[in-house]
Amino acid sequence: MNHYFTDNSDLKSELKNIVYHYNDYTFNFTSDNGVFCKDRIDFGSDLLVKAYLKNARNNLDILDVGCGYGFMGLVIAKLTNSHVDLIDINKRALHLCEMNIKSLKVDANCFYSNIYENVSNKYDVIITNPPIRAGKKVVYGILKEALNHMKPNGELWFVIRKNQGALSAIKDISDLYDCTVVDKAKGFLIICAKSR
Ligand SMILES: C[S@@+](CC[C@H](N)C(=O)[O-])C[C@H]1O[C@@H](n2cnc3c(N)ncnc32)[C@H](O)[C@@H]1O
Repeated sequence: MNHYFTDNSDLKSELKNIVYHYNDYTFNFTSDNGVFCKDRIDFGSDLLVKAYLKNARNNLDILDVGCGYGFMGLVIAKLTNSHVDLIDINKRALHLCEMNIKSLKVDANCFYSNIYENVSNKYDVIITNPPIRAGKKVVYGILKEALNHMKPNGELWFVIRKNQGALSAIKDISDLYDCTVVDKAKGFLIICAKSR
């Protein structure tokens, strides 16, 4: 069975335009078959972006882990005048992300990385809608190893559904981070984790 994070390069390409509105801004994203949420913006990703933007600082260095075609990182970077690096293992998603960086004219760089294997910088903020279907090892790798890629006082923002283990994820990382649930809706929790 093919998941959105496997090699989907043999899938037929059917480029799609996805429109996203935030206040007075309109964003157009190019999406395609073989990537996560190819036809729409994911509810959880949208909730995270809105929660983050409520009190966001400008001019930060941000990392979007499991970026897909770039929705979360590119909207946040554009609206907070920040630099964003975006990583994924899905090559088609990265190709789309590259297209979206160019069309949205965002200060951003996307590249292939299995979790953090190709990440060498440190960030003020790491954001992720983690790939639950990839399994606990990958998801916990993303959440726990974020600590090694943060600047002092860095923050990890993530979204997980309650019925997909949000509460046990908070419990399991609480030796590393102070976690706050900053928003919730329709079973999705938005968590801000600050290093202890
Ligand atoms: C739930 S999707 C979120 C996509 C995008 N951030 C969004 O909000 O639409 C999770 C993403 O993680 C990526 N992914 C899966 N396993 C990964 C890994 N080991 N390292 C990095 N990214 C991975 C998938 O390819 C997918 O694009």
